[in-house]
Amino acid sequence: MVRFLKGRDFISLADYTAEELWFMLETAKMFKTRYYSGEYIIPVLRGRSLGLLFEKPSTRTRISFELAMIQLGGHAMYLSARDLQLGRGETIADTARVLSRYLDGIMARVYEHEKLLELAEYSDKPVINGLSDLLHPAQALADIFTILEKKGDPRRLKIVFVGDGGDNVAHSLLLGLGVLGAKLVISSPKGYDPAKTVLEKFNEIASITGADLEIERDPFEAVKGADVVYTDVWVSMGQEAEREKRVRDLRSYQVNSKLMKMAKPDAIFMHCLPAHRGEEVTDDVIDGPWSVVWDQAENRLHVQKAILALLIR
Ligand code: CP
Ligand code: NVA
Repeated sequence: MVRFLKGRDFISLADYTAEELWFMLETAKMFKTRYYSGEYIIPVLRGRSLGLLFEKPSTRTRISFELAMIQLGGHAMYLSARDLQLGRGETIADTARVLSRYLDGIMARVYEHEKLLELAEYSDKPVINGLSDLLHPAQALADIFTILEKKGDPRRLKIVFVGDGGDNVAHSLLLGLGVLGAKLVISSPKGYDPAKTVLEKFNEIASITGADLEIERDPFEAVKGADVVYTDVWVSMGQEAEREKRVRDLRSYQVNSKLMKMAKPDAIFMHCLPAHRGEEVTDDVIDGPWSVVWDQAENRLHVQKAILALLIR
C-alpha cells in the first residue's frame, strides 16, 4: 500500500480510493500521537526537499507544509511565482521539468486549476495541490481528520456546508466525503452551487460509494440537527472584483449563533480560515463553544506529514 502511494500526485481527493484516504488519515493520527508524546522529528524524509510554489498568499498552508518537511527530516523551500522566471514568461512545463530535477516534490498554490494539472504532467516528482480556484484537498483531508477526531465516522453524521457551494474547500470536502461514502448538505443560494465538473465527478464516485449530496437553499432548514456546520469566506482569493455582489448574495448565509442553535446542542463549527469575521461568521460563533477552528488549523500539520511521508520517495 505505502509503496503504491509513493510518487503519486495529490491534486484531488477524488484521485484516491476510500482505502487510501483512510490509510492517510490513520497515518496522520500516528504522526499526531507521536508528536504529542514528544517525538517532534520522525525523519522518514531525511535529506528530501519540497518546493512550495505560491501564486497567492498563505499563512497556514505555507507554515504547516514547511514545518511538516522539517519534522520529517527534510527541507522546504518557499518559491514565490512572482520571483521565479515563471513571472517573466518561462512556461509551466519547463518550470516543472527543472524543479523536478532539484526537488523531491512540489506543493503549489495557483489560480487556475489547469496550471496544477500541467505542473503534474511535466514534473517527474509528486505535485501536491496547496489550493487552486477549484480544489483545496490538503485542507479537506485535514478537515475530515478533525471531524473524525471530534465527532467520529463522517458516514454517521450530518455535515452541512453553509455559504458559497462553488468554493474550493466545499468542492474538496464534497469529493473527500464522497470517496468515503458520506453525505454532505450544502446550503447556498441559487448561482452558488458546486461547479459542474465537481458535481459530475461526485456523482460518478457516489454511484460506487453510496455518498450523497443535498442542496438546501434555506440555511435554517439545512442546519437543523447538524453535527458539523462548516463555512468559508464569501470572497475567495481571485474573486475580489465580485466582492459587492457576493456579499449581497450570501448575506443570509452567515453562520451566527441563531443559526448554530438550529444544529445539535453538541454540534461543532468549522472554518478553514482565514475568517472574515462579521461576514460569513460572527465572533460569538468562531470564538464560542462550538468552534474547533484552531484544532482544525493545527491538524493541517499532522495530516500533511502523512501525505508527504506517503507520497514522496
Ligand atoms: N486554510 C488555508 O489554506 O489557509 P492559508 O490560506 O493561510 O494557507
Ligand atoms: N476559499 C478560500 C480558501 C482560503 C484558504 C480562498 O480560496 O481564498
